[in-house]
Amino acid sequence: MQAFLRTIPDRGSGFERLEIRLLRHRDYSSVREIYKAVSNEYLQYQKQRTGEVYDPVRLDLDMSQLDFYVATHCSFAAIENEKLLGVLLAQALRWVSDWDRVLWLEYIAVHSAHRRKGIGLALISAAKDFARRHHIKSLFTTLNIDNEESKSLLLKAKFDVKDWRIASYSS
Ligand SMILES: CC(C)(COP(=O)(O)OP(=O)(O)OC[C@H]1O[C@@H](n2cnc3c(N)ncnc32)[C@H](O)[C@@H]1OP(=O)(O)O)[C@@H](O)C(=O)NCCC(=O)NCCS
Repeated sequence: MQAFLRTIPDRGSGFERLEIRLLRHRDYSSVREIYKAVSNEYLQYQKQRTGEVYDPVRLDLDMSQLDFYVATHCSFAAIENEKLLGVLLAQALRWVSDWDRVLWLEYIAVHSAHRRKGIGLALISAAKDFARRHHIKSLFTTLNIDNEESKSLLLKAKFDVKDWRIASYSS
């Protein structure tokens, strides 16, 4: 079982120990909790911004979707004090666009109370490490046109954000 510890600066009080490890079946309820909260957050954001929902999103995940992402062996959970604070769902793809072998990042989310502590970047680093070990040269994802935090995160992780919808990283 792959896992590594990462010390991240806690902007409040010293340092916290963050474990990034592979996603497990037992993480399901925590992942769904984050997923539902993030979907609701996004719906609220849309209503506040324009008074309507212009991009309806799923409100929940199926167990079968999580089964799939556990089985890819490249989806990661961020754990602090035994609590799941963030998740990254990914799969390796044989061929996408101009890339021969890519790691497709389907979803990344961090619990709202624990953002801006480096957890998102730590999850992406785990995905990059996986890609390096498996001779996968590129990471690939998409982002919503209005998702500034996602765009900032990907730029900080040295992705090439070609436009607001498609982002890629090449080592
Ligand atoms: C996007 C998300 C995963 C970032 O997670 P995070 O743990 O807060 O990210 P990090 O702390 O690693 O941030 C790394 C960098 O990303 C950028 N960033 C992250 N959140 C940002 C925000 N709200 N505004 C501006 N820049 C932001 C910053 O450059 C940040 O570095 P800094 O804190 O030193 O300035 C998190 O905000 C989230 O879960 N959002 C809701 C779900 C979502 O939109 N997911 C992405 C699309 S599926």
